[in-house]
Amino acid sequence: MQFEPVPETEKIVLSANKFENFNPMQAKIVSERLFSKSLVVSSPTASGKTVIAELAALYSILEKKQKVVYTCPLRALASEHFEDFKKKYSHLRIRFALSTGDLDSSSAYLANYDCIFTTYEKLNSLVRHNAPWLQGIGLLVVDEIHEIDSDRGPTIEVTVAELRQISTFLRVLGLSATIPNAKEISEWLSAELVESDYRPVPLKEGAFFGGKIFYSGAEENIPEENFGNTGSGPLLSIVKDSIVSRKKQALVFANTRKSAESAANSLANFVGKTLSEKEKDSLSNFSGKILNALEIPTEQCRKLSSLVEKGVAFHHAGLLQKQRSLVEAAFRENKIKVVCATPTLAAGVNTPSHTVIIPSLFRYGSAGMERISVRDYKQMSGRAGRPKFDSEGRSIVFARSDSDKDDVLENFVNGEIEPVNSRLGIEPVLRMHLLSLAANSFIFDLKSMESFFSKTFYAKQFGNLHALLGKTTVLIEQLREMGFLEGSESEFRATKLGVRVSELYLDPMSAFAIVHGLKSKRRFSDFFYLYLLSSTYEFFPWQSVSRKKEPELWEQISSREGELPIDLAREQFFDSSLLPKFYSALLLEAWVNEKPEQLLLEEFNVQPGILHSKLNICDWLAYSAFELAKLIGAENHFVPISKIRRRLKHGIKEELIGLCEVRGIGRVRARRLWRSNVRSVSELKKVDLKDLQRILGEKVAEKIKEAIGQ
Ligand SMILES: Nc1ncnc2c1ncn2[C@@H]1O[C@H](COP(=O)(O)OP(=O)(O)OP(=O)(O)O)[C@@H](O)[C@H]1O
Ligand SMILES: [Mg+2]
Repeated sequence: MQFEPVPETEKIVLSANKFENFNPMQAKIVSERLFSKSLVVSSPTASGKTVIAELAALYSILEKKQKVVYTCPLRALASEHFEDFKKKYSHLRIRFALSTGDLDSSSAYLANYDCIFTTYEKLNSLVRHNAPWLQGIGLLVVDEIHEIDSDRGPTIEVTVAELRQISTFLRVLGLSATIPNAKEISEWLSAELVESDYRPVPLKEGAFFGGKIFYSGAEENIPEENFGNTGSGPLLSIVKDSIVSRKKQALVFANTRKSAESAANSLANFVGKTLSEKEKDSLSNFSGKILNALEIPTEQCRKLSSLVEKGVAFHHAGLLQKQRSLVEAAFRENKIKVVCATPTLAAGVNTPSHTVIIPSLFRYGSAGMERISVRDYKQMSGRAGRPKFDSEGRSIVFARSDSDKDDVLENFVNGEIEPVNSRLGIEPVLRMHLLSLAANSFIFDLKSMESFFSKTFYAKQFGNLHALLGKTTVLIEQLREMGFLEGSESEFRATKLGVRVSELYLDPMSAFAIVHGLKSKRRFSDFFYLYLLSSTYEFFPWQSVSRKKEPELWEQISSREGELPIDLAREQFFDSSLLPKFYSALLLEAWVNEKPEQLLLEEFNVQPGILHSKLNICDWLAYSAFELAKLIGAENHFVPISKIRRRLKHGIKEELIGLCEVRGIGRVRARRLWRSNVRSVSELKKVDLKDLQRILGEKVAEKIKEAIGQ
């Protein structure tokens, strides 16, 4: 399909992508130039929705001279799109920026960029900081807009409503998976709607049972030699069929981190034997980097690295970010043949898997084991058969019985996808957004609240705001009691403290607990601060405590009562998470006392990736605590908080803070230097290279000398 005459934007996009033509879903949008308007696109996975964003962005930047913001659910996804756009369109002198970090900044430099990629939360924080350039946005792309129906949904709703108020000429492009109520979303945004069931690469979805894959109206026998005496059951059969018979890659979606690891383990020997010497060679580079991601490898690093040598990997939040990227890269380059991942890999990413395997449709939820939604199932199966890599794809669910197989086909493969529902009414999130709305003067009395919330998807969906405004009235009162709002119920504004809490992107309850703790008359030990941070809502989920461990922890918590920022006698009755919070503080304490990652894994059952993501959160919380201490004039906390923040960052005792400031020196090297009597940066400068090489090794020593300017 080619269109004549082809206007510039369309031509640029076609040629930058090296596509021959637009697909039917895209063609409709191109022929009617719908990308120049507000638009919602609801279409299957891999149908090429990103191209619509490219068209709309170029139109906005080149034709309208207006800024674009592209927002998505994950940092990784934002970064993937950013790299991709940059590669395709930088030659047009379009300036692209990626902004996913620091939540306490208006990122003023972004004023110089045309197209900014960001997560939902970062964008919301930019609004909180009144970034002046937001007024110039012509287009807001909301990728995966069906995420409205998730924990992060309220952030999307509030941010979109805010931006529509800030920039009067804003167009919104919502990209959504197939959902039944896309019309509702498009009406909310006063947008055009394009719905399509086109998928460029046919995706066969089936259930596997008794040596056969059952699709709707078709069956596929898994050849006898691939079935039967495999020992490891259906997983190995399908993997064999994929990587040996078809020479394709496979992606397994496990429902827990543990089962992702055990699936990878069970496949390793078999997959390893299928690799050629050349393939094994090319994997050693990846496995080596994975092994050495930390200064001292943990058991997990070793396990993953030895699996990768065999062409298999697990992928979950317990891995370090660096390791995750390495696994993804090796998978994309067809070096790793099978990846066993948790569903974090399911949203929006292009994976090279011809076959997606879903062993179970159950997942742990708030009510124990729950069936996943059809929408989540479609997101996972949709990672198979991506146009960049394959001309067909299949997704296979394991059925336990004949009737189970029918159930899978009826309720998932052909099941009705759930509509997207607003979650704005959920309290903790609503409270947080209310404060930010007041801090930015979007709301200041009942009328303004009504007017603001009438612009949300919630209002569109429920038709009235009675229930919501009932809740907001109570929450406004709470925020007043906590000192974040002042004035009366009918006319309020944020206090100075409230404005700062909003900017810091803190949950008001956490901020209140922090301020309260800092003002208290406790013994401000290091542990006091660690508990203050680990007990916040941001740190959730806390370390789980086994029944066996409880008595010991009760004893410990009572003996350390004086260091806690809480009234233990009271909290014992009111806070069912008391022990997990305390246990989390103990974990942080062990970390800053230089317990190696491997020991933390054994003692606290915390994997390096989880630990480091918690440490990132702590860094932000400690920064926020410092800022709040400044605001309430609690100078006595300045030094201790700064110190504990440095120690958390590196996992070190106080004496190593100085050494760790040097690039290339982490907790292990710093301790080694200390033991060799090199105890400060000035001493480090005095040591000659030879001696340093004896302590740290040749290359490392050279790098470090370079880092200190020698
Ligand atoms: N017209 C086209 N011709 C050829 N390939 C295309 C065309 N449009 C898109 N593609 C390719 O299809 C792949 C999938 O596109 P994209 O990631 O945009 O899908 P998506 O609809 O966003 O999927 P998801 O819902 O999973 O995020 C990309 O590799 C893209 O380059
Ligand atoms: Mg996409």
